[in-house]
Amino acid sequence: MEVVLLPTPEDCGRVVADAVAGSVLDALARGGPVVLGLATGSSPLLAYRELLRRHREEGLEFAGVQAFLLDEYVGLPAGHPESYREVIRRELTDALGLDPAVVHGPDGSAADPLRAARDYEQLLLSAGPVAVQVLGIGANGHLGFNEPGSSLASRTRVKTLTEQTRSDNARFFGGDVAAVPRHVLTQGLGTILGAGHLVLVATGEAKADAVAAAVEGPLTASCPGSVLQLHPHVTVVVDESAGSRLARAEHYRYVLSHKLEAQGW
Ligand code: GLP
Repeated sequence: MEVVLLPTPEDCGRVVADAVAGSVLDALARGGPVVLGLATGSSPLLAYRELLRRHREEGLEFAGVQAFLLDEYVGLPAGHPESYREVIRRELTDALGLDPAVVHGPDGSAADPLRAARDYEQLLLSAGPVAVQVLGIGANGHLGFNEPGSSLASRTRVKTLTEQTRSDNARFFGGDVAAVPRHVLTQGLGTILGAGHLVLVATGEAKADAVAAAVEGPLTASCPGSVLQLHPHVTVVVDESAGSRLARAEHYRYVLSHKLEAQGW
């Protein structure tokens, strides 16, 4: 695992964009379908803005790329502005020129959400593997919508949100916690581990405990983010605030400043 500690959230956005663009370009160069794993939430937004800038100004192309979302609320009607499918179209994929038909997410409006979860897992397995998966982390250590207690081997399924996550996400629903769905569909932690490269981004003090637990704490379902420790290619990109409780911060800075160019992201 590489931990990249940077001064500002904007610096984090640039490094995440570098890592995503690099993995996508490598996968395109190898030929065959390229699958990009996307997260919603506020953490990746600066990276997405940087990818959009490179697309507009530097000709970074995503033709031939399919995108798969991590998770979705259950019960929001298709097209609801806060459904993750709509959010990702608005924030990223429309402007990148990706046809909505190649931007996939679990179907949270399905009459049978359990079946929708199985179908999504199958779709992902048949289209994948995901070349690079962008991840945020919840203040309680959740990845996607895998709340504490989620099996480290889990696959896409229906989950129930904690009240903390509902209240954290109420800001997207006009501050109304009651409007935040209680149930969600999420890729499992085992599903996420199937991606070739995991890039987690976190900024701000509120994420400092979760980042320290995920990176340096024990491997435990009580901190779903700790599952990253099982993956062979992980890049954790944090600003000074989110990285402020990392015990080995000095070592991560030392490693970064002595990085060989050939190591890439
Ligand atoms: C949300 C999402 C996650 C996201 C996390 C952190 O509930 N389901 O995918 O990474 O919580 O969100 P944010 O980046 O807005 O802090």
